Amino acid sequence: MRIFRTKDYEDMSRQAANLLGAQVLLKPDAVLGLATGSSPLGAYRLLRERCEKGELDFSRARAINLDEYCGLGPQHPQSYRYFMQQNLFDHINIPPENTHLPHGLAPDPAAECARYDAVIAGAGGIDMQLLGLGLNGHIGFNEPADTFAGGTHRVALTQSTIQANSRFFGEEEVPRYAYTMGISSIMQARRILVIVSGESKAQILREAFAGPVTPLVPASVLQLHRDVILVGDAPALSLLC
Ligand code: GLP
Repeated sequence: MRIFRTKDYEDMSRQAANLLGAQVLLKPDAVLGLATGSSPLGAYRLLRERCEKGELDFSRARAINLDEYCGLGPQHPQSYRYFMQQNLFDHINIPPENTHLPHGLAPDPAAECARYDAVIAGAGGIDMQLLGLGLNGHIGFNEPADTFAGGTHRVALTQSTIQANSRFFGEEEVPRYAYTMGISSIMQARRILVIVSGESKAQILREAFAGPVTPLVPASVLQLHRDVILVGDAPALSLLC
């Protein structure tokens, strides 16, 4: 694992945008595994700016997102599809048909999970997977569990995740279920880029990368991947190195 220590969120975002941009420059039809949440927002802003300036070309790139809330459609402002359109896809020249997320309103969860695994396989796997880190060590929506999950599946969100995400929902109920890419799909990505910012993530970051590999801390499995780049700001890395 390579660790890039940055001074703050902005610096972390620049490093992440540099690495994602380099991936697209080196392989114009790269398959990017993308994430939502507050961690990637700065990197997405920089990618938009670079694309607008003509420095990056996403016309052949493909994007496969990690997860989506069950029960939310693409027009719902808290759906991850909406987030991706607003923060990235609507502002770069990626063809809409090259962007993929699970369908939150799919009527048959099992069929939806199988469809999504077929999307990943059909793209030839993921070249660079971007990951944030949940406060309980989740990646995507792979919550702490007794075993590591395989492919795309539907998960019941834990109370900690519901609590963390309630800031986005106001009065409205936070969804209780989500679709997520599984741990083995994530681990099959050829390169993984983890971005972590802020003191609130310091403890879980240490558990994930310096503690035992256990499904109780899902991100700890990343210790077994041979090409992980961790970009963390100084507060997030304060207990790790
Ligand atoms: C959410 C998402 C994850 C994300 C994580 C951290 O629950 N499903 O993909 O990485 O929480 O979010 P944030 O970056 O806002 O801390």
